[in-house]
Parts: sequence; C-alpha cells; structure tokens
Amino acid sequence: MLKSNYNGIYFQWQGKKKLVLTKNLTPKIKFFKEDLILEDNTEYRIFEPGRSKYSAAILQKISKLPIKENDSILYLGASHGYTCSYLSDIIGNKGYIFAVDLSPRVVRDLVKVSSVRENIIPLLFDANKPFLYKEKITKVDILYQDIAQRNQVDIFLKNVDLFLKNNGYCILCIKSRSIDVTKNPGEIYSYVRKQLAKKLKILDSKTLDPFQKDHCFFVCQKK
Ligand SMILES: C[S@@+](CC[C@H](N)C(=O)[O-])C[C@H]1O[C@@H](n2cnc3c(N)ncnc32)[C@H](O)[C@@H]1O
Repeated sequence: MLKSNYNGIYFQWQGKKKLVLTKNLTPKIKFFKEDLILEDNTEYRIFEPGRSKYSAAILQKISKLPIKENDSILYLGASHGYTCSYLSDIIGNKGYIFAVDLSPRVVRDLVKVSSVRENIIPLLFDANKPFLYKEKITKVDILYQDIAQRNQVDIFLKNVDLFLKNNGYCILCIKSRSIDVTKNPGEIYSYVRKQLAKKLKILDSKTLDPFQKDHCFFVCQKK
C-alpha cells in the first residue's frame, strides 16, 4: 500500500490499474459492495472513480484536495452516501459531515450508513433552500457539492455564503449537461469558472472524463 500525497488516500497497483483506497473507519462493515484489502492488520476500501467524482479527480491528478482529519463538512447531494462514506474515513471520528439530500429514498439509506458511521449526520432538505436547515447546522471547514441541477452554481454560492468559514475550502462537481444539454461542456466550464471567480479563489479544476463523462471538478477557497 502506498500512502499518497492526498490526505487519507492510499494507492495500490492492480496490474496496470491504479487503485484509490481509504482506511476503513468501520472495519468489516461495508454498505456499497466495495472491495476490501487487508494489509498489516489494516483494512482498506477501494474507492471507485466510476462511482465518485472525488476518486476520479484524484486519478486526474488534481493538485489540491483540502479535506483532512477532524474537518467539518457540509455535503450537498450526498445521495446513498457512497462518496460521503469515504470522506467519513478521511476525517475520522472527530470530524463530522452534514449530509444533505432532497430525496427521501436515498436519505433512508444514508440513515442506515450513519447508524454505523457516527460522523455522518443525514439531513433531508433541498440545498436550494438553505434557510430551512440554517438552524440545524454549524459553520464548516469544507463545503462539497454534487447535485445535478440547472442552477447548481447559484446553490453552491448561496451555501458557501451562509455556511463556509472564512478561508474555508469548497469543492464543486459540475455536470455540464444539467446546466445546458445543447452547449459544449467546455463552454459551460468556462462560464462556471467566471461565476466562481467573482466570489472565490479557484485553486484547481479537472475534467473527469473518462471516469465521469461531461463532469468538471473545481476546488476553491473562500476569499
Ligand atoms: C449525482 S448524485 C450524488 C452522488 C453522491 N455525491 C456520491 O458521489 O456518492 C446527486 C444527488 O443530488 C441530489 N439532489 C439533487 N438536487 C438536490 C437539491 N436541490 N438539494 C439536495 N439534494 C439534491 C439527488 O437527490 C441525488 O441524490
């Protein structure tokens, strides 16, 4: 197992395939049928780039991923909790994740995950209406967003304003087809870049093809 330069992330080669892994915070327990690797009495979980934009951004060699041990995170679009569970490995038991999704069906799964991973707090809310969960959460070190909505940049900036600490980091996964299916993804990404740059410092961005088609991953910092 090779320790990577990204916090809490390990690499292992499987033939020509580079695997991305985290240390399992809840050994022997898994919710996503992920493969586990045991080495030196430590259990690692394989983090698939086809299932997570975070893992895809690592394989695309994003230059900075700020999430680290003990961080507090607001995760918008947590879905069933796949990526959320790996961020839960990275931040450890002293960090916590407010995991927001508007679909009751996926939040039900998230509740099951959080019954074992106690650093995940599931919240059934629309991220477009942050005033509805304003009283339920604290300011956070990190804001992570992965929701396929036409106004995904507005939703992101609204939540950054309300909940991200000054100098905190924020990560936006953009699905270009949700913003405008008729436009070339490159055009969408430059529009998004301009919108973000008005309020944030953009640290890096990577397109996620071939792992996640027509997606781009932006890492920013609150000015
Ligand atoms: C692509 S999936 C997220 C996958 C997840 N981030 C992962 O990597 O495991 C997008 C999720 O965003 C949620 N979503 C869409 N619009 C939303 C909104 N306005 N507020 C909260 N969640 C939303 C959907 O219900 C869906 O679960």
